[in-house]
Amino acid sequence: MFITFEGLDGSGKTTQARLVMARLKAAGYDVLLTREPGGTGIGDQIREVLHSLDNTEMHPTTELLLYNASRAQLVAEVLRPHLNAGGWIICDRFYDSTLAYQGYGHQLDLNSLKAIVHFATGGLRPDLTFFLDITPEDGLTRRKQASLFGEEWNRLDDMELAFHRRVYTGYQALMQAEPQRWVRINAQQPVEQIQTAIGRHLDVHLQRRPVPSIHKENPAG
Ligand code: TMP
Repeated sequence: MFITFEGLDGSGKTTQARLVMARLKAAGYDVLLTREPGGTGIGDQIREVLHSLDNTEMHPTTELLLYNASRAQLVAEVLRPHLNAGGWIICDRFYDSTLAYQGYGHQLDLNSLKAIVHFATGGLRPDLTFFLDITPEDGLTRRKQASLFGEEWNRLDDMELAFHRRVYTGYQALMQAEPQRWVRINAQQPVEQIQTAIGRHLDVHLQRRPVPSIHKENPAG
């Protein structure tokens, strides 16, 4: 099973992805947590280029291709091998971020984007996607506060509020187009309540896909 987390910057999805990882591991699933951009040695180098505040002149098309370069490497090096071996993946962002940020945020042509994404992923799609719902204003406020305590403030955070509003609109459209894959979670609640809400949805899927016996005998891996 392939689970992704999406949302605006500051929505708390990274914290929730980590908690879900711990929960699934404790239940005996062979699960791997990764992220985009990054998740591989090459991907992490691409992430640096993408997020550096020195690269303000980066063209949206360059940005699009770099996110997908990182994605292609992650799919080939990590996602496909682990899923093919019967493992589970939790990914902090995947191609929905490209559609929302580069498609709606930068207003690049959506059909071209979909073709590029398909080329990068070879058609790999998440089974389940959690959207951590926070307004662009609240997300940016949280990010600014976190940056005062040493968290990254990157080139994408630095885009104007109107950009983040378009990204938010994009996510609404993506959810509407594929409601069976998405679960919207109110991210304005305390961390524990968010995790409880996610857990409720996850349990339904766990019942459908119990731990394979091979992993039950050896939950460590
Ligand atoms: P994060 O790791 O803190 O979520 O930051 C990733 C940033 O990159 C975030 O601002 C969203 C952005 N992003 C895109 O614009 N397109 C993409 O395809 C991905 C994966 C991320």
